[in-house]
Amino acid sequence: MADRYLSFTGTAPGRLLTRRLGLPQPATLRRWSAGAPTLQGGLLHLTAGKSELALTSVLARTGLPQEGARPPGAVVLDATGVRDVDALGEVHAALHPVVRSVAPSGRVVLLGAPLDLADHHQCAAQQALEGFARSLGKEIGGGRTVNLLSLTDAAAAESTLRFLLSPRSAYVSGQVIETGDGEVTAPADWAKPLAGRTALVTGAARGIGEAVAETLARDGARVVVLDVPAAEADARRVADRLGGLALALDITAADAGARIAAALPDGLDVLIHNAGITRDRRLVNLPADRWGPVLEVNLAGVLRTTDALLAEGTLRPGGRIVATASIAGLAGNAGQTNYAASKAGIVGLVRSLAPRALAEHGVTVNAVAPGFIETRMTAAIPLFIREAGRRMNSLAQGGLPVDVAETTAWLAHPASGAVNGQVVRVCGQSLLGA
Ligand SMILES: NC(=O)c1ccc[n+]([C@@H]2O[C@H](COP(=O)([O-])OP(=O)(O)OC[C@H]3O[C@@H](n4cnc5c(N)ncnc54)[C@H](O)[C@@H]3O)[C@@H](O)[C@H]2O)c1
Repeated sequence: MADRYLSFTGTAPGRLLTRRLGLPQPATLRRWSAGAPTLQGGLLHLTAGKSELALTSVLARTGLPQEGARPPGAVVLDATGVRDVDALGEVHAALHPVVRSVAPSGRVVLLGAPLDLADHHQCAAQQALEGFARSLGKEIGGGRTVNLLSLTDAAAAESTLRFLLSPRSAYVSGQVIETGDGEVTAPADWAKPLAGRTALVTGAARGIGEAVAETLARDGARVVVLDVPAAEADARRVADRLGGLALALDITAADAGARIAAALPDGLDVLIHNAGITRDRRLVNLPADRWGPVLEVNLAGVLRTTDALLAEGTLRPGGRIVATASIAGLAGNAGQTNYAASKAGIVGLVRSLAPRALAEHGVTVNAVAPGFIETRMTAAIPLFIREAGRRMNSLAQGGLPVDVAETTAWLAHPASGAVNGQVVRVCGQSLLGA
């Protein structure tokens, strides 16, 4: 279902009328396209406080234009050295004069340090950056995004910086992401980081899963398009287009993990749990037969196949698991006790498994939490609620399946080994649960 309001505000009369009426002004977001420059403008590197981060060489490696180009296409503010309220003033002093000049669809990335719990002044100042970043995200407008990255090692955060500074993160705003200092393998070719890797995407015959399969194939992966037997023809169509393999399988089957392992004797590098269903009703009207399937597909099936593929050794060291949560699982949503429970369960799975899977199997575990994404799932929502869902975020529009796919591809990246246990919302900074 096309977003007609977005198309209307993209015209001159539409812009004029909606501005006069004080209505939301969604910008046309700049997304990745082959051959287009990463940034429209230069990269401005600012610092607040006394930083010890070795950032300059990492930013230079990204190849982004850095010298005094105005207006800036992106601003990186290194605030890792901010340890007290005085130094916090330097954040204001650095950004206040430049924020107006950031190009439309530009990026503001604040770099923070992990909380030093032994120093309450440092904790206060670093936590303050979250409120600052989230508020700036809500006011900056023009398709610009603002995110906070907490890090200790700039080199280990390179794939994350590249993602946040590019059009690939068009619908990711107001997020706080942490990267550790794990071992990171830079790909031979940043344009094809998944070359030689196999990626399986569940529920990939259509919607977000199809976009994820496409994006991982673009990045060089051999993709396995898994979907229920009833969707086999569509799964085959997607797999043929991407030069991959279709696998007709219901993820809730007790032996789903064993059957995936049997289909992939050479192993698997990337496992994307995308398949999901809804059976919405308020709890008072929710019979058990609308509870069970949702928990089975969205959570129990994910737990069982993950366990099986780790135990069988199908997921190779250096592997990646990305599961799909939802902002409904973080904020709750009327009529979705079943769905929200299943998606919150994904967050619990990630929190527990991430450190152990990395230590025992060399595999990272993260989740994406989409907000309102334009798909068949959201097209079925009644008009008024759909319109509210689309507008109630800082970018005043719904995201596209490709936005979830790009975020997934960053988490699946071989150089994202220091990103583990994260739940990253792809929601345009939705007001729900913000
Ligand atoms: N669309 C949104 O706005 C939104 C928001 C938050 C989260 N999500 C989540 O993103 C994921 C994809 O959503 P979508 O909008 O593309 O949904 P969709 O309904 O368009 O596609 C889901 C796919 O999963 C497949 N599937 C369902 N049950 C399966 C099973 N048992 N085994 C294998 N495959 C199965 C379906 O056949 C379908 O192809 C879901 O997990 C959903 O909960 C979507």
